[in-house]
Amino acid sequence: MMEESLSQDNNQATPNSYVGTGSQSAVEREHLCVDEFIKDMVGSRALATAFELGLIDFLIQHSPCSTDGIRGTWPSDYRGLGLLLDLLTGSGVLERQGETILLTRRFTNALRFRDLLEAKLQFSFQVSADVADLFTELIRDPSAFQQRARMFQLFRYDSSPQVTPENLEQARRWMRITTALTRYEAAACIGGHDFARCRRVLDIGGNSGEFALQLCRKYPHIQATVLDLPVVCEVGRQHIHGQPGAERVCFLAGDARTDDLPGGFDAVVFKSMLHDWPDDQARLLLRRASECLAPDGVLVIFERGPLELAAQPLPYSMLPLLLLFRSFRSPTFYVDVLKGLEFERVMVDRIDLETPFFLVAASR
Ligand SMILES: C[S@@+](CC[C@H](N)C(=O)[O-])C[C@H]1O[C@@H](n2cnc3c(N)ncnc32)[C@H](O)[C@@H]1O
Repeated sequence: MMEESLSQDNNQATPNSYVGTGSQSAVEREHLCVDEFIKDMVGSRALATAFELGLIDFLIQHSPCSTDGIRGTWPSDYRGLGLLLDLLTGSGVLERQGETILLTRRFTNALRFRDLLEAKLQFSFQVSADVADLFTELIRDPSAFQQRARMFQLFRYDSSPQVTPENLEQARRWMRITTALTRYEAAACIGGHDFARCRRVLDIGGNSGEFALQLCRKYPHIQATVLDLPVVCEVGRQHIHGQPGAERVCFLAGDARTDDLPGGFDAVVFKSMLHDWPDDQARLLLRRASECLAPDGVLVIFERGPLELAAQPLPYSMLPLLLLFRSFRSPTFYVDVLKGLEFERVMVDRIDLETPFFLVAASR
Protein backbone atom coordinates (compact mmCIF):
# COMPACT_ATOMS: atom_id res chain seq x y z
CA MET A 1 0.00 0.00 0.00
CA MET A 2 1.23 3.46 -0.73
CA GLU A 3 1.19 6.53 1.43
CA GLU A 4 0.14 9.95 0.33
CA SER A 5 -0.46 13.41 1.61
CA LEU A 6 -3.93 14.81 1.45
CA SER A 7 -5.28 18.28 1.68
CA GLN A 8 -8.99 17.54 2.13
CA ASP A 9 -10.23 16.82 5.59
CA ASN A 10 -13.97 17.36 5.38
CA ASN A 11 -16.77 15.16 4.17
CA GLN A 12 -18.74 17.65 2.11
CA ALA A 13 -19.42 16.82 -1.51
CA THR A 14 -19.65 19.59 -4.10
CA PRO A 15 -23.05 21.28 -4.62
CA ASN A 16 -23.93 19.35 -7.82
CA SER A 17 -23.65 15.95 -6.23
CA TYR A 18 -26.04 14.08 -4.05
CA VAL A 19 -24.82 13.00 -0.62
CA GLY A 20 -26.72 10.26 1.16
CA THR A 21 -26.09 8.84 4.60
CA GLY A 22 -25.48 5.22 5.48
CA SER A 23 -28.42 3.00 4.66
CA GLN A 24 -26.69 -0.37 4.86
CA SER A 25 -28.63 -3.21 6.40
CA ALA A 26 -27.93 -5.04 9.64
CA VAL A 27 -26.91 -8.08 7.57
CA GLU A 28 -24.21 -6.03 5.86
CA ARG A 29 -22.80 -5.12 9.30
CA GLU A 30 -23.14 -8.53 10.99
CA HIS A 31 -19.50 -9.45 10.48
CA LEU A 32 -18.36 -6.47 12.58
CA CYS A 33 -19.09 -8.57 15.68
CA VAL A 34 -15.57 -10.04 15.31
CA ASP A 35 -14.06 -6.72 16.47
CA GLU A 36 -15.44 -7.33 19.97
CA PHE A 37 -12.75 -10.01 20.31
CA ILE A 38 -9.88 -7.88 18.96
CA LYS A 39 -10.16 -4.99 21.38
CA ASP A 40 -6.78 -5.03 23.10
CA MET A 41 -3.40 -6.58 22.47
CA VAL A 42 -3.28 -9.23 25.20
CA GLY A 43 -6.85 -10.43 24.70
CA SER A 44 -6.22 -10.62 20.94
CA ARG A 45 -2.95 -12.46 21.42
CA ALA A 46 -4.57 -14.96 23.79
CA LEU A 47 -7.28 -15.63 21.24
CA ALA A 48 -4.79 -16.14 18.41
CA THR A 49 -2.82 -18.57 20.61
CA ALA A 50 -6.01 -20.44 21.43
CA PHE A 51 -6.61 -20.84 17.69
CA GLU A 52 -2.98 -21.87 17.06
CA LEU A 53 -2.94 -24.50 19.82
CA GLY A 54 -6.25 -26.00 18.75
CA LEU A 55 -8.10 -24.93 21.90
CA ILE A 56 -10.89 -23.16 20.03
CA ASP A 57 -11.41 -26.12 17.70
CA PHE A 58 -11.44 -28.46 20.70
CA LEU A 59 -14.09 -26.33 22.39
CA ILE A 60 -16.16 -26.06 19.20
CA GLN A 61 -16.40 -29.84 19.29
CA HIS A 62 -16.59 -30.39 23.05
CA SER A 63 -18.16 -27.28 24.57
CA PRO A 64 -19.26 -27.44 27.35
CA CYS A 65 -16.46 -29.45 28.92
CA SER A 66 -14.37 -29.58 32.09
CA THR A 67 -10.80 -28.37 32.55
CA ASP A 68 -9.80 -32.02 32.93
CA GLY A 69 -11.36 -32.71 29.53
CA ILE A 70 -9.10 -30.08 27.94
CA ARG A 71 -6.02 -31.25 29.86
CA GLY A 72 -6.24 -34.65 28.16
CA THR A 73 -5.17 -33.11 24.83
CA TRP A 74 -3.29 -30.03 26.05
CA PRO A 75 0.25 -29.83 24.59
CA SER A 76 1.92 -27.91 27.43
CA ASP A 77 1.91 -27.29 31.19
CA TYR A 78 -1.34 -26.62 33.02
CA ARG A 79 -0.27 -23.19 34.28
CA GLY A 80 -0.11 -22.01 30.66
CA LEU A 81 -3.54 -23.47 30.07
CA GLY A 82 -4.87 -21.80 33.23
CA LEU A 83 -3.55 -18.40 32.15
CA LEU A 84 -5.02 -18.77 28.69
CA LEU A 85 -8.41 -19.82 30.04
CA ASP A 86 -8.44 -16.83 32.41
CA LEU A 87 -7.58 -14.37 29.65
CA LEU A 88 -10.16 -15.86 27.30
CA THR A 89 -12.77 -15.65 30.03
CA GLY A 90 -11.86 -12.02 30.71
CA SER A 91 -12.25 -11.12 27.05
CA GLY A 92 -15.63 -12.83 26.67
CA VAL A 93 -14.53 -15.78 24.53
CA LEU A 94 -15.28 -18.31 27.28
CA GLU A 95 -17.53 -18.54 30.24
CA ARG A 96 -17.01 -20.72 33.30
CA GLN A 97 -19.81 -22.31 35.26
CA GLY A 98 -18.03 -23.97 38.20
CA GLU A 99 -15.68 -26.51 36.62
CA THR A 100 -17.47 -26.33 33.30
CA ILE A 101 -16.05 -24.30 30.42
CA LEU A 102 -17.95 -23.23 27.34
CA LEU A 103 -17.66 -20.82 24.43
CA THR A 104 -19.88 -17.78 24.98
CA ARG A 105 -22.86 -17.23 22.75
CA ARG A 106 -21.36 -14.00 21.40
CA PHE A 107 -18.09 -15.67 20.50
CA THR A 108 -19.90 -18.61 18.90
CA ASN A 109 -21.75 -16.06 16.78
CA ALA A 110 -18.47 -14.35 15.81
CA LEU A 111 -17.08 -17.73 14.73
CA ARG A 112 -19.45 -17.57 11.75
CA PHE A 113 -16.88 -15.09 10.42
CA ARG A 114 -13.82 -17.04 11.53
CA ASP A 115 -11.82 -16.27 8.37
CA LEU A 116 -12.29 -12.54 9.01
CA LEU A 117 -11.53 -12.86 12.72
CA GLU A 118 -8.28 -14.69 12.02
CA ALA A 119 -7.31 -12.32 9.19
CA LYS A 120 -7.87 -9.25 11.38
CA LEU A 121 -5.89 -10.78 14.22
CA GLN A 122 -3.03 -11.59 11.86
CA PHE A 123 -3.08 -8.14 10.25
CA SER A 124 -3.05 -6.34 13.61
CA PHE A 125 -0.12 -8.40 14.91
CA GLN A 126 1.82 -7.84 11.73
CA VAL A 127 1.70 -4.07 12.10
CA SER A 128 1.79 -3.72 15.89
CA ALA A 129 5.59 -3.26 15.90
CA ASP A 130 5.09 -0.29 13.54
CA VAL A 131 2.84 1.33 16.13
CA ALA A 132 5.21 0.55 18.99
CA ASP A 133 8.43 1.59 17.25
CA LEU A 134 7.52 4.05 14.52
CA PHE A 135 4.52 6.04 15.68
CA THR A 136 6.51 9.25 16.12
CA GLU A 137 7.84 8.75 12.59
CA LEU A 138 4.28 8.22 11.33
CA ILE A 139 3.23 11.59 12.73
CA ARG A 140 6.42 13.52 11.96
CA ASP A 141 7.74 12.08 8.69
CA PRO A 142 5.30 10.01 6.59
CA SER A 143 7.81 9.04 3.90
CA ALA A 144 10.41 7.83 6.45
CA PHE A 145 7.62 5.86 8.09
CA GLN A 146 6.64 4.31 4.78
CA GLN A 147 10.18 3.21 4.10
CA ARG A 148 10.62 1.53 7.47
CA ALA A 149 7.18 0.19 8.29
CA ARG A 150 6.46 -3.54 8.13
CA MET A 151 3.01 -2.66 6.83
CA PHE A 152 4.48 -1.63 3.48
CA GLN A 153 6.81 -4.63 3.32
CA LEU A 154 3.80 -6.91 3.60
CA PHE A 155 1.97 -5.13 0.77
CA ARG A 156 4.71 -5.08 -1.87
CA TYR A 157 2.35 -5.20 -4.81
CA ASP A 158 4.62 -5.37 -7.77
CA SER A 159 8.12 -5.66 -6.34
CA SER A 160 8.42 -8.95 -8.25
CA PRO A 161 6.07 -9.08 -11.23
CA GLN A 162 7.12 -12.56 -12.46
CA VAL A 163 4.77 -15.42 -11.65
CA THR A 164 7.11 -17.66 -9.64
CA PRO A 165 6.28 -19.98 -6.71
CA GLU A 166 7.99 -17.55 -4.26
CA ASN A 167 6.10 -14.52 -5.58
CA LEU A 168 2.81 -16.41 -5.53
CA GLU A 169 3.44 -17.36 -1.90
CA GLN A 170 4.35 -13.79 -0.98
CA ALA A 171 1.18 -12.47 -2.67
CA ARG A 172 -0.97 -15.12 -0.99
CA ARG A 173 0.14 -13.84 2.43
CA TRP A 174 -1.35 -10.37 1.97
CA MET A 175 -4.18 -11.46 -0.33
CA ARG A 176 -5.54 -13.66 2.47
CA ILE A 177 -6.16 -10.43 4.37
CA THR A 178 -7.61 -8.36 1.52
CA THR A 179 -9.82 -11.25 0.44
CA ALA A 180 -11.24 -11.81 3.94
CA LEU A 181 -11.97 -8.09 4.35
CA THR A 182 -13.57 -7.84 0.92
CA ARG A 183 -15.65 -10.99 1.41
CA TYR A 184 -17.67 -9.02 3.96
CA GLU A 185 -17.27 -5.41 2.80
CA ALA A 186 -18.49 -6.34 -0.69
CA ALA A 187 -22.07 -6.85 0.47
CA ALA A 188 -22.33 -3.22 1.60
CA CYS A 189 -20.92 -1.92 -1.66
CA ILE A 190 -23.00 -4.18 -3.86
CA GLY A 191 -26.06 -3.44 -1.71
CA GLY A 192 -25.42 0.30 -2.02
CA HIS A 193 -25.44 0.48 -5.80
CA ASP A 194 -27.88 -0.99 -8.31
CA PHE A 195 -25.90 -2.87 -10.97
CA ALA A 196 -29.06 -4.28 -12.59
CA ARG A 197 -28.46 -2.46 -15.90
CA CYS A 198 -24.86 -3.64 -16.17
CA ARG A 199 -23.72 -6.54 -18.32
CA ARG A 200 -19.96 -6.01 -18.48
CA VAL A 201 -18.14 -4.84 -15.35
CA LEU A 202 -14.44 -4.06 -14.93
CA ASP A 203 -12.97 -4.24 -11.41
CA ILE A 204 -9.65 -2.38 -11.42
CA GLY A 205 -7.28 -3.65 -8.73
CA GLY A 206 -9.84 -6.42 -8.23
CA ASN A 207 -7.35 -8.63 -6.38
CA SER A 208 -8.50 -12.22 -5.78
CA GLY A 209 -11.75 -11.71 -7.69
CA GLU A 210 -13.76 -11.96 -4.47
CA PHE A 211 -15.71 -8.76 -5.16
CA ALA A 212 -16.35 -9.71 -8.80
CA LEU A 213 -17.50 -13.16 -7.74
CA GLN A 214 -20.04 -11.75 -5.31
CA LEU A 215 -21.26 -9.29 -7.91
CA CYS A 216 -21.77 -12.12 -10.42
CA ARG A 217 -23.62 -14.18 -7.85
CA LYS A 218 -26.03 -11.35 -7.12
CA TYR A 219 -26.51 -10.45 -10.80
CA PRO A 220 -26.64 -13.60 -12.95
CA HIS A 221 -26.31 -11.61 -16.19
CA ILE A 222 -23.04 -9.86 -15.28
CA GLN A 223 -19.69 -10.80 -16.83
CA ALA A 224 -16.85 -9.37 -14.74
CA THR A 225 -13.25 -8.65 -15.68
CA VAL A 226 -10.71 -8.32 -12.86
CA LEU A 227 -7.72 -6.21 -13.82
CA ASP A 228 -4.72 -6.65 -11.54
CA LEU A 229 -0.99 -7.36 -11.52
CA PRO A 230 0.12 -10.72 -12.98
CA VAL A 231 1.00 -12.52 -9.74
CA VAL A 232 -2.20 -11.30 -8.09
CA CYS A 233 -4.30 -12.50 -11.04
CA GLU A 234 -2.76 -15.96 -10.81
CA VAL A 235 -3.57 -16.24 -7.09
CA GLY A 236 -7.05 -14.88 -7.89
CA ARG A 237 -7.69 -17.53 -10.54
CA GLN A 238 -6.85 -20.21 -7.99
CA HIS A 239 -9.02 -18.49 -5.37
CA ILE A 240 -12.22 -18.44 -7.40
CA HIS A 241 -11.65 -21.75 -9.20
CA GLY A 242 -14.70 -24.01 -8.88
CA GLN A 243 -16.78 -21.49 -6.94
CA PRO A 244 -20.31 -20.66 -8.11
CA GLY A 245 -20.17 -17.68 -10.47
CA ALA A 246 -16.46 -18.14 -11.29
CA GLU A 247 -17.30 -18.99 -14.91
CA ARG A 248 -18.36 -15.35 -15.38
CA VAL A 249 -15.20 -13.82 -13.88
CA CYS A 250 -12.09 -13.44 -16.01
CA PHE A 251 -8.71 -12.01 -15.02
CA LEU A 252 -6.71 -9.52 -17.05
CA ALA A 253 -3.10 -9.16 -15.95
CA GLY A 254 -1.67 -5.68 -16.38
CA ASP A 255 -0.81 -2.31 -14.93
CA ALA A 256 -3.85 -0.04 -14.83
CA ARG A 257 -1.64 3.05 -15.02
CA THR A 258 0.27 2.19 -18.18
CA ASP A 259 -1.18 -0.75 -20.14
CA ASP A 260 -3.82 -0.52 -22.86
CA LEU A 261 -7.18 -1.13 -21.21
CA PRO A 262 -10.27 -2.70 -22.79
CA GLY A 263 -13.38 -0.55 -23.34
CA GLY A 264 -17.15 -0.66 -23.57
CA PHE A 265 -17.88 -1.54 -19.92
CA ASP A 266 -21.22 -0.72 -18.31
CA ALA A 267 -19.48 -0.23 -14.98
CA VAL A 268 -15.91 0.23 -13.83
CA VAL A 269 -15.32 -0.37 -10.13
CA PHE A 270 -12.51 0.67 -7.81
CA LYS A 271 -12.86 -0.92 -4.41
CA SER A 272 -10.31 0.02 -1.75
CA MET A 273 -7.77 0.65 -4.48
CA LEU A 274 -7.42 4.39 -5.08
CA HIS A 275 -6.36 5.18 -1.51
CA ASP A 276 -3.07 3.42 -2.26
CA TRP A 277 -2.12 6.15 -4.70
CA PRO A 278 -1.10 9.79 -4.37
CA ASP A 279 -3.50 12.36 -5.82
CA ASP A 280 -1.89 12.63 -9.27
CA GLN A 281 -1.87 8.84 -9.74
CA ALA A 282 -5.43 8.51 -8.48
CA ARG A 283 -6.47 11.17 -11.03
CA LEU A 284 -4.67 9.25 -13.77
CA LEU A 285 -6.38 5.99 -12.78
CA LEU A 286 -9.79 7.66 -12.77
CA ARG A 287 -9.21 9.23 -16.17
CA ARG A 288 -8.09 5.91 -17.65
CA ALA A 289 -11.05 4.12 -16.04
CA SER A 290 -13.45 6.69 -17.48
CA GLU A 291 -12.15 5.83 -20.96
CA CYS A 292 -13.10 2.16 -20.40
CA LEU A 293 -16.78 3.03 -20.01
CA ALA A 294 -19.57 2.74 -22.55
CA PRO A 295 -21.23 6.17 -23.08
CA ASP A 296 -23.92 5.45 -20.48
CA GLY A 297 -21.59 3.54 -18.16
CA VAL A 298 -21.09 4.18 -14.46
CA LEU A 299 -17.89 4.55 -12.49
CA VAL A 300 -18.19 3.24 -8.94
CA ILE A 301 -15.71 3.95 -6.15
CA PHE A 302 -15.94 2.26 -2.77
CA GLU A 303 -13.35 3.63 -0.35
CA ARG A 304 -12.82 4.26 3.31
CA GLY A 305 -13.24 7.89 4.27
CA PRO A 306 -11.16 9.77 6.86
CA LEU A 307 -11.00 7.94 10.19
CA GLU A 308 -13.16 9.35 12.98
CA LEU A 309 -11.29 8.54 16.15
CA ALA A 310 -12.17 11.17 18.74
CA ALA A 311 -15.23 9.52 20.25
CA GLN A 312 -13.77 6.33 21.74
CA PRO A 313 -10.52 4.46 22.36
CA LEU A 314 -9.15 2.79 19.26
CA PRO A 315 -9.57 -1.01 19.29
CA TYR A 316 -6.57 -3.21 18.51
CA SER A 317 -8.32 -4.45 15.35
CA MET A 318 -7.95 -0.94 13.90
CA LEU A 319 -4.13 -0.71 14.10
CA PRO A 320 -3.64 -1.35 10.36
CA LEU A 321 -6.16 1.34 9.46
CA LEU A 322 -4.60 3.77 11.92
CA LEU A 323 -1.29 3.48 10.09
CA LEU A 324 -3.01 4.29 6.80
CA PHE A 325 -4.88 7.31 8.15
CA ARG A 326 -3.36 9.71 5.61
CA SER A 327 -4.56 7.55 2.73
CA PHE A 328 -8.28 7.76 3.38
CA ARG A 329 -9.69 10.71 1.49
CA SER A 330 -12.81 12.71 1.79
CA PRO A 331 -15.18 11.85 -1.11
CA THR A 332 -14.83 15.49 -2.18
CA PHE A 333 -11.58 14.61 -3.88
CA TYR A 334 -13.23 11.93 -6.05
CA VAL A 335 -16.27 14.08 -6.77
CA ASP A 336 -14.07 16.94 -7.96
CA VAL A 337 -11.95 14.68 -10.18
CA LEU A 338 -15.06 13.07 -11.67
CA LYS A 339 -16.70 16.42 -12.38
CA GLY A 340 -13.47 17.43 -14.11
CA LEU A 341 -13.82 14.31 -16.27
CA GLU A 342 -17.27 15.53 -17.29
CA PHE A 343 -19.35 13.15 -15.26
CA GLU A 344 -22.59 15.07 -14.81
CA ARG A 345 -24.25 12.99 -12.17
CA VAL A 346 -22.17 12.07 -9.14
CA MET A 347 -23.81 10.37 -6.17
CA VAL A 348 -22.10 9.92 -2.81
CA ASP A 349 -23.34 7.57 -0.13
CA ARG A 350 -21.85 7.09 3.28
CA ILE A 351 -21.63 3.51 4.52
CA ASP A 352 -20.72 2.93 8.15
CA LEU A 353 -18.78 -0.25 8.74
CA GLU A 354 -15.99 -0.33 11.36
CA THR A 355 -14.92 2.99 9.83
CA PRO A 356 -16.85 5.26 7.45
CA PHE A 357 -16.82 4.20 3.80
CA PHE A 358 -18.03 6.22 0.84
CA LEU A 359 -19.65 4.90 -2.27
CA VAL A 360 -19.28 7.32 -5.16
CA ALA A 361 -21.17 6.53 -8.38
CA ALA A 362 -20.68 8.74 -11.44
CA SER A 363 -22.31 8.72 -14.84
CA ARG A 364 -22.40 11.08 -17.79
C1 LIG B 1 -5.74 -2.62 -1.31
S1 LIG B 1 -5.83 -3.77 -2.60
C2 LIG B 1 -7.56 -3.80 -2.86
C3 LIG B 1 -7.98 -5.00 -3.57
C4 LIG B 1 -9.47 -5.21 -3.80
N1 LIG B 1 -10.04 -4.22 -4.68
C5 LIG B 1 -10.19 -5.30 -2.49
O1 LIG B 1 -10.92 -4.38 -2.16
O2 LIG B 1 -9.99 -6.29 -1.80
C6 LIG B 1 -5.24 -2.90 -4.04
C7 LIG B 1 -5.17 -3.77 -5.27
O3 LIG B 1 -4.65 -2.98 -6.34
C8 LIG B 1 -3.77 -3.79 -7.09
N2 LIG B 1 -2.83 -2.95 -7.84
C9 LIG B 1 -1.78 -2.26 -7.36
N3 LIG B 1 -1.17 -1.61 -8.35
C10 LIG B 1 -1.85 -1.88 -9.48
C11 LIG B 1 -1.70 -1.49 -10.84
N4 LIG B 1 -0.71 -0.68 -11.19
N5 LIG B 1 -2.58 -1.94 -11.76
C12 LIG B 1 -3.59 -2.77 -11.37
N6 LIG B 1 -3.78 -3.17 -10.11
C13 LIG B 1 -2.92 -2.74 -9.17
C14 LIG B 1 -3.08 -4.63 -6.04
O4 LIG B 1 -2.44 -5.75 -6.58
C15 LIG B 1 -4.25 -4.97 -5.14
O5 LIG B 1 -4.90 -6.12 -5.57
